[in-house]
Parts: sequence; structure tokens; C-alpha cells
Amino acid sequence: MYGMRSRVITLLVLFSLSLLFTACSMSNQQENSEENQSAEQNNNSSEESQQKEETKEENTQESKEKEASYAYAENLDEEVDEDGLTIVSEPDIKEVVVNKQRKLPEDYEPEELIIPDVPFPFDGDQPKKYMQPEAANALEELFKGAEVEGLELYAASGYRSYDRQEAIYESNVNQRGQEEADKFSARPGTSEHQTGLAMDVTSPEMAFKLEQDFIETEEGKWLEEHAHEYGFIIRYLKGTRNITGYEYEPWHLRYVGKDISTEIHESGSTLEEFFGFYEE
Ligand code: DAL
Ligand code: ZN
Repeated sequence: MYGMRSRVITLLVLFSLSLLFTACSMSNQQENSEENQSAEQNNNSSEESQQKEETKEENTQESKEKEASYAYAENLDEEVDEDGLTIVSEPDIKEVVVNKQRKLPEDYEPEELIIPDVPFPFDGDQPKKYMQPEAANALEELFKGAEVEGLELYAASGYRSYDRQEAIYESNVNQRGQEEADKFSARPGTSEHQTGLAMDVTSPEMAFKLEQDFIETEEGKWLEEHAHEYGFIIRYLKGTRNITGYEYEPWHLRYVGKDISTEIHESGSTLEEFFGFYEE
């Protein structure tokens, strides 16, 4: 009898031990699988962060390359005239930089000029209504965008020939003296208006004048915020006369195309700085 009982007890002990062993090994498996999962998660997240790092590097690389391709100043080999002014070698590109140091070639005229379909505060077929076609189309879009916001923009002055700029500059010198005139009026051959890529804009609230108070009006503020969305920049920013050569002109729009206008707007820089024509 005793032998039988002890066998039963032994069997029970063995059975309990086997149950205990199975339970332990299951819990280990579970832990292991969690460990694996979290290792996988760790793996995933380290892969993700590696990918992010790579994307960041690619972006930085891309923007460096972009900046480098935009900063074309260093790669130019341009003629300098007897007054020490550089003669712009590619006057027809939308990235052209014309300023007090960079003059358009003698008698330069854009290949094609058209009148944008926008309101002007004067009538008739006048040269100052014209712009290069791509810029004219972009200006029409900009005016539509302003109209949707209930704003009233008018185009006041676009293309000017060398001779027209000469007359304007001389008139300004006669009225204000050369030193003053040079702060806001370009000498012939050095005005962006001769490229057909610029347009001065105004509004009825300004009585169609071009004055710095324009920035206090809804139209002026909207332009400052939105012109870049249409490919234009405000060319002569406040406080940049040491770079651009001119006082603040919140009305002077210059077409450069959307990619460049957006980058310039976001960086808050001037055309000179953006293309590498200004070194501090
Ligand atoms: N007002 C700008 C600088 C021009 O005369 O072209
Ligand atoms: Zn202008």
C-alpha cells in the first residue's frame, strides 16, 4: 500500500515540477518576444532616424547646391567700361542683376514686350505699360490675387528705354540735385525698368503716387506679404541702400520667377546678396 502511495506522490511531484517548468519557459518566451519587438522597434527607430539624418543631409546639400547655382556672381567674366561699371553679359535672363555697379549693354532692349492686362491710371499705348511676356503674365496673376482680396492695384510704370531713363534722371537731378537724385533714381543704363522685368505699382488711396507711405495701405502690405507667390520681389527693401544703392521702394516689383522670389522672400535678403554680388 505504502509503495503505491509513494509512487502516486512521486508522480504528482514530477507532474507539478513539469507544470512549473512549462510556465517559466512560456513567460520567458513572452519576455523574449517583447524584447525582440522592442529591439525591432529600436531598430526601426534607429533606421528612421538614420533616414531622417540622410534626408536632412540631402536637403542641406540640395539647398547648398541651389544657393551655389544661384550665386552666379563668381562665375562671370564681364567687361568693365571706362567709368568702372560692369557691363551685364546676360541682360535677357530673369535673374539679371542691374544696379549702380552693373550696367546694361549700350541701347539694350528686351526681345519682346507686351502690355499686361491690368489697370493703369492713364490711357494710351505708352512704353511704360510694357513688360517682358513672362513678367506681364505673372503681373496679371498678381493683380487677380489682389482683386480677390478686394484690393485696388494699378500699374504705374514698367518698361523704360535708355533714353527715357536719361530724361527722368536728368529731370530728377534738376529738381533735387544729383546727390538726392542718386538715392532714388537710376542713371541711364542702370535701371531695372530697362529690362522690362520691373513694374511700379500704386493705388487710388495713394492718389496713384509712388511714395513710401504705400506700405501703410492694405495694398502695400499685401504686396509685401504676397508678391513672392507670383514670382516678384520688392526690390528695394527698407534699410538696404548700402546694398541696393536706393532708398526703400515698397512699390517697385521685380520679376525673378517663383522659385527665386520665394527663396529671397524667406531669407529676407536682397537680389545682390542672393546672387553673390554683395560682400560685407
Ligand atoms: N527708382 C529706381 C531705382 C529706378 O530709377 O530704376
Ligand atoms: Zn521702379
